[in-house]
Amino acid sequence: MPISKTYTRHLEYFSRFSVVIITGGSSGIGCSIIKAILSINPDLMLCNLSRTRPEIFLGKNGIHYPVDLCDAKALGETVKAIKKRIYEAPKGEILLINNSGFGDYGKFSELESYKQLSMIDLNIRAVVDLTARLLPKMLDTGGTIVNVASIAAFQPTPFLATYGATKAFVRNWSLAISEDLRGTKVRALVVCPGPTRSNFFKAAGFKDPPMRKGGALSPDMTCDEVAEQTLSAVAQNRTLIVNGWKNSCIVFFCSKMPLVVINRIGAFILRKMRLEQHKK
Ligand SMILES: NC(=O)c1ccc[n+]([C@@H]2O[C@H](COP(=O)([O-])OP(=O)(O)OC[C@H]3O[C@@H](n4cnc5c(N)ncnc54)[C@H](OP(=O)(O)O)[C@@H]3O)[C@@H](O)[C@H]2O)c1
Repeated sequence: MPISKTYTRHLEYFSRFSVVIITGGSSGIGCSIIKAILSINPDLMLCNLSRTRPEIFLGKNGIHYPVDLCDAKALGETVKAIKKRIYEAPKGEILLINNSGFGDYGKFSELESYKQLSMIDLNIRAVVDLTARLLPKMLDTGGTIVNVASIAAFQPTPFLATYGATKAFVRNWSLAISEDLRGTKVRALVVCPGPTRSNFFKAAGFKDPPMRKGGALSPDMTCDEVAEQTLSAVAQNRTLIVNGWKNSCIVFFCSKMPLVVINRIGAFILRKMRLEQHKK
């Protein structure tokens, strides 16, 4: 990826980090974030946590830690290994990016409950656990916590009920800890992408990204765009971003409507997606 003008502007800011710990760098948004970070500073000590190894080069100081983050014990073991490595890192701040996550589309009554519970484990428990385990070191070195939520965090999401609720947790938790951390050397940012072209839809049970091209929910942002906006937000000391003007408009519109009304509209749109899937 060529270094864009935005990244050149952030070169100085990112030189404060010596370690990056990211979850879910094996595909999609996480993969784009890794490429973007390494294009700014290729010498960073990078730790990627996901089940599969990213196909991209992780930099000369990059290591892949194969781990299923739904497994609390495996997460604990991985953090122990990472901590050992961090102690050997050159002096500098830590950038922790909690990005791994998945959704599961359908009526709650028809979905497999083990998958819903795994989603809570990955989208919520692993985020809190990983952050809590690394925070003492980050309070010492300084650092930034980036949590990837979604625009689904701003209202109930029928047919993606558990997913939307996990992202609402991530958004509120992230904002709250950013205040708890005020006055320390650590800060938190929550990133809220809208539909983005990645494996997310396939993993959630869609054959293709189901939204109509050009529609309000069409996945017209690329992972590279979300990554670029995320790094800009880190450099600008933001605490919350919604990616893209269209998504910002959706969030603004939703905030002005009674929640029960937005819930009904959401159900109408998301149920329709389901019908469109069945027509195929
Ligand atoms: N794409 C969208 O439209 C969209 C919109 C809003 C928010 N988001 C959020 O953005 C984040 C990244 O998603 P994406 O769009 O880039 O989708 P993606 O391409 O499916 O990436 C998901 C990542 O999560 C990792 N992951 C899944 N299960 C895991 C597990 N049990 N343990 C460890 N890692 C696991 C995957 O790695 P492995 O499979 O190798 O483990 C993969 O790297 C997610 O939190 C998602 O909720 C996506």
